[in-house]
Amino acid sequence: MINTKLIKMEENEAFALEMASKIWKDGGLVAFPTETVYGLGANGLDEQAAVKIYAAKGRPSDNPLILHIAQKRQVRPLVKEISKVGEQLMDTFWPGPLTLIFPKADCVPYKTTGGLDTVAIRMPSHPQARKLLEAVQLPIAAPSANLSGRPSPTTASHVWEDMNGRIDLIVDGGAVGIGVESTIIDLTEEVPTILRPGYITKEMLEEIVGEVKIDPAIMGVLRPDIHPKAPGMKYRHYAPKAPVILVEGKTDAVIHFINGQIQERGVNTVGVIATEETKERYQGGIVKCIGSRSDMESVAHNLYDVLRSFDATNVSIIYSESFSEEKFGQAVMNRLKKAAGQQIIHL
Ligand code: TXA
Ligand code: MG
Repeated sequence: MINTKLIKMEENEAFALEMASKIWKDGGLVAFPTETVYGLGANGLDEQAAVKIYAAKGRPSDNPLILHIAQKRQVRPLVKEISKVGEQLMDTFWPGPLTLIFPKADCVPYKTTGGLDTVAIRMPSHPQARKLLEAVQLPIAAPSANLSGRPSPTTASHVWEDMNGRIDLIVDGGAVGIGVESTIIDLTEEVPTILRPGYITKEMLEEIVGEVKIDPAIMGVLRPDIHPKAPGMKYRHYAPKAPVILVEGKTDAVIHFINGQIQERGVNTVGVIATEETKERYQGGIVKCIGSRSDMESVAHNLYDVLRSFDATNVSIIYSESFSEEKFGQAVMNRLKKAAGQQIIHL
């Protein structure tokens, strides 16, 4: 057991920066806020530190880590080459929630890239993340700071739930803004390919670089003949303790179906993920409002907190409404489908 410390960065910034840098330079683990979700950081050039991340999360070691940097000039030494498309995307979307995949340079250890010859890099825009990364001047490998398989953390207390006793420090920067992980785009293919949808949508990327593909493994049901290019996408993910079932169909039909389940199974054993527009229409059940249907950003922002909040209840099953997969909706539905382990009811 490690004695995990927690510092509110707002209250003592200089101390937080100094302590985080020291721990990172000594090969330790520090969780910190980004604009997407909290990350669990370690020196990405130190094999032993990367190994500690996998142990703390209980993460399979073939699942590569993203390197986080503070300045664009930090990219060059980490990669074999930067294509024109890479330059354009960095110029347009960095700092921000976009991760780029490049061919890796020799200095990046295979323990960080899960054995791959490519490396994922992103420059977060969260002001506190930027200060921490600037202070340490190292590429920081950081997966989401949750136990493997659990919903990603969007507050320091989510990180504490999963990581207390496993890491050296949690830098508390309050609740994050976006709430789902960065968009990942692979630049090592002929046509840039989205491996994980996020806040930066296909449409936004295509406006800058022309045609962009989507890895077919992202939205579909997992099939043995489709191998996701982002190894992390093949695991069940984002899941609360009770199973989640996603219900697709016209809103009235979805509500009618879920109300039927509540009646059948008992009002205290069924969880419901509802929206501002629908929450009053459930008869019993533990109903949590995830946001407004007309504002996907609110849904993304609340998604992981709502999933986690069911763990404090006695529900044995959670039914979730579903959303349009247009634009940012694709990222939200990708996470909900994974939380549901692909258990989807089409009405
Ligand atoms: O928003 C984010 O990206 C957050 C914050 C902390 O920055 N990080 C994050 O990391 O979501 P993680 O480890 O939970 O997810 C990283 C994903 C995994 O699905 C992994 O397989 C994929 O990125 N990935 C990393 N390096 C890759 C590579 N070289 N090739 C393909 N996929 C890669
Ligand atoms: Mg993750």
